[in-house]
Amino acid sequence: MRATSTGQRLDITRAPLAERSTLAEDVRDGLTRPFKELVPKHLYDARGCELFDEICTLEEYYPTRTERAILTAAAADISDRTGAIELVELGAGSASKTRVLLDAIDADGRLERYVPFDIAEAVVRPTALAILGEYPELGQVHGVVGDFISDLDLIPEPATAAPRILALLGSTIGNFVGVERAALLSGITSLLRPQDRLLLGTDLVKDPAVLEAAYNDRRGVTAAFNLNLLEVINRELDGDLPVENFEHVARFESDLDWVEMRLRARAPCQARIGALNLEVDFVAGEEMRTEISAKFTPARIEDNLAAAGLEIERIYTDAGDLFALTLARPAA
Ligand code: AVJ
Repeated sequence: MRATSTGQRLDITRAPLAERSTLAEDVRDGLTRPFKELVPKHLYDARGCELFDEICTLEEYYPTRTERAILTAAAADISDRTGAIELVELGAGSASKTRVLLDAIDADGRLERYVPFDIAEAVVRPTALAILGEYPELGQVHGVVGDFISDLDLIPEPATAAPRILALLGSTIGNFVGVERAALLSGITSLLRPQDRLLLGTDLVKDPAVLEAAYNDRRGVTAAFNLNLLEVINRELDGDLPVENFEHVARFESDLDWVEMRLRARAPCQARIGALNLEVDFVAGEEMRTEISAKFTPARIEDNLAAAGLEIERIYTDAGDLFALTLARPAA
């Protein structure tokens, strides 16, 4: 089941709400564990999307500007090598970096379709409309509102036999670890024909101080982004989590090569999640994990891709080796 509104140049497909928004189950599961945990996809309500866009402009948050610079330098080469006429973007958000790639494909006179895919209902339509307005020669924008794990099948078939690029930028892949990451990459592989390519953005392992600063910005925007998750739960699930009693924590776990965001209870507290008929207790200093942001090495990128049946065609990086953009193809 899916809901589709068909226009001439604009199409939006939404995964059924029950499938894509697993907030109730995730909160019940996560808050009843011995080490409480929430999954990061619920950070992106309308306010969370705004805060994330603000994070992307912060001095300390180097990934966005670095990836944009790499993409700017590589876009013509990527367009040229792939010959793509279509771009599918997983986790498109407000698509601020996407334009660099669309511009390059457009300059080659091949731009036919853009497919922004995102969990955040609030951003898919505005993003689709903005891109349609900016690229009059673009034949179609087909937005998809869905979840990376359950809804990749809602991505429309390629428009023609001509190549398409599937992009997963911003190190969004870092939110997935273990079997989930493997499943996501395999799911992507099954969408690729031999002529198609994956363009994968990954943040790289580096000085922990640089990593930790990126998730502990001085203006507290990341803290607000993290704490907003409690507001989402309170609003959507009739909860009374005391937001003022929690503080933002972000730490690089050097043995795991990932940054964890957590919310720490300053003092003991109790909360009730009405919609779940659930009472939860927090002891003083208790930390609840809200996000894993994994960092990569070139070897790990290669391993993860190989395990999903993909091989590297080209890796683009910045001079400081902060971030990598990998163009990969289905293994022969
Ligand atoms: C969108 C998942 C790539 O992990 O860096 C930014 C989210 N969290 N600041 C990241 C995020 C805190 C971001 N990703």
